[in-house]
Amino acid sequence: QLKIDSAKIVSPVSPMLYGMMTEEINHAFDGGLYAELLQNHTFRRSWMGIEHWDLVRNGNAAAELSSDEHSGPSKALPYSMKIQVTSASDGAEAGVTTAGYWGIPLKPHTTYKGSFYAKVDSDAPITAKLINDKSGASAGEAKIDLKSGDWARYEYTITTGQIVASTANHLVLTVARPGTIWLQAASLMPPTFHNTPNGNRIDLMEKMADLHPKFLRLPGGNYLEGDRLEDWYNWKETIGPIVDRPGHQAPWSYYSSDGLGLLEFLEWCEDLKIEPILAIYAGYALGGKHIEAGKNMEPFVQAALDEIEYVTGDSSTKWGAERAKDGHPAPFPLHYIEIGNEDWLDKSGSYDSRYPQFAHAIRKAYPQYKLIATTPVKTDHPEEQPDVIDDHYYKPPAEMMDFVHHYDNAPRNGPKIFVGEWASMSGSPTPNFGSALGDAAWMTSMERNSDLIILSAYAPLLVNINPGGMQWSPDLIGYDGLESYGSPSFYAQSLFAAHLGDGTPESSISGAQERFFYSATVGSSDHVLHLKFVNASTIEQPLTLDVAGIKASGEATVISLHAASFEATNSMSDPKQIVPHTITRPVGSAPWKHTVPPLTIQIVDVPLH
Ligand code: AHR
Repeated sequence: QLKIDSAKIVSPVSPMLYGMMTEEINHAFDGGLYAELLQNHTFRRSWMGIEHWDLVRNGNAAAELSSDEHSGPSKALPYSMKIQVTSASDGAEAGVTTAGYWGIPLKPHTTYKGSFYAKVDSDAPITAKLINDKSGASAGEAKIDLKSGDWARYEYTITTGQIVASTANHLVLTVARPGTIWLQAASLMPPTFHNTPNGNRIDLMEKMADLHPKFLRLPGGNYLEGDRLEDWYNWKETIGPIVDRPGHQAPWSYYSSDGLGLLEFLEWCEDLKIEPILAIYAGYALGGKHIEAGKNMEPFVQAALDEIEYVTGDSSTKWGAERAKDGHPAPFPLHYIEIGNEDWLDKSGSYDSRYPQFAHAIRKAYPQYKLIATTPVKTDHPEEQPDVIDDHYYKPPAEMMDFVHHYDNAPRNGPKIFVGEWASMSGSPTPNFGSALGDAAWMTSMERNSDLIILSAYAPLLVNINPGGMQWSPDLIGYDGLESYGSPSFYAQSLFAAHLGDGTPESSISGAQERFFYSATVGSSDHVLHLKFVNASTIEQPLTLDVAGIKASGEATVISLHAASFEATNSMSDPKQIVPHTITRPVGSAPWKHTVPPLTIQIVDVPLH
């Protein structure tokens, strides 16, 4: 029996409980959300050469490809790709080709915007062609007239015709005459969300909107700090024109172009009508080194203050003006700032002095913001105490279910809690239904304890499912270059966030099986009791619902997410195997009978008086 007195609210539910966390992992940005189609678009050289770019020579054309370390269009990109064509003519062209990230995804009747910086030793028309890998057919082409002289930026567009959508395409840039061409900062952009230049993939933005998030924790995760001290997220190198962004070594095995930089993070928030939770670098590297608090830390504290000003300052401030120059005059909303990431990893204990140095400076300049620490801080000074602590949990589904009482009796007189990363770990690349059950069970506990847990975010959010695209599993949303799908956990979260009240009513349950979980919240403005049931067992759970305050003549909406097994899942080839199904049912006068089927996550919205 489940007894609820919907008029007796015992604790509040945070209006910001459900949000998102992001970082460059699993090609979340480059080769993911960031719509740029060209990989290594700044032609970085490794011992393998200029990766992802190859020389092409048709017929008897002759050319060489190299990296010129002494010529580039900007301070950030002082090098370039050099193509020396010694013999070429019509029908025997030479140039370079790239397959982007696991192929260049193309759709029919779509315009792709290309650009690059180039320098040539004599005027030369260059042809850009999009070619299907299998048929060799051209999906579209453009001619760009390069003028001899110094570095200049060139643009072109290619509109596809009646082609079959596929990722099996490559770009070819060729010339039909001898000469030398230097290229840098090449780009090829499909249509983006809200048509934003240098913007994001439309399908992934729509999927994230479907999660009904309230915030985005950015830019990481480990991506904030990097493996080595020099790999820290130096946000100043991620803003402004692409040609002024050098990119940096990210911790998840690949280099970040920083094409999706700080302003793009903020615009991502703006597009989804959510606010950033700004994580600032706090002087720790994953390799174990840290910057000593004090003098050595001062430049990093200043970088944090400048970053906050870039996000929130108006155009009369130095960094607010810089943001306006970058194309966004209006400041962004901000309430929470997180100092560091997972600093409990730093066994030296230096966070106890690093955190206070940042906290002092930020509180002095910006007393209005709430500060989040990544682990409790040992200090006797109250002003050095964080407002919120960021806890992270990655557990197998069964352990996640065993963990649901963790916060029930936690002290309420200290800092609030941000569960800034959490996931039930079963399934790859995306969670299976067993994980979704663990996740849903966990969400019932976060809702029940939302007077304490004010913020939460699943992690990681995104995964490119191509071979080598993934560094961590499971991840909430999977994709290749063209398509994306939501995992069962994605649908569970979407439902939980969309059906959340602002208060927790008094409730009690008796006689339920061990793997049955529930949450009850009441919406004070929509007058709805939002019930969530999680039956993580293979037998049904009959319930007698004794709910005070419901409209006996009303109809309840019942939304079910169900699978035949714990292993069942969604995938690119079967993206909608597990999706929510909605029915309505009369409420009747209390108490009423309701059965939750096995392996089912259910939302029951009941109208109240
Ligand atoms: O979400 C993956 C990683 O897990 C994050 O980068 C890090 O903060 C945590 O250890």
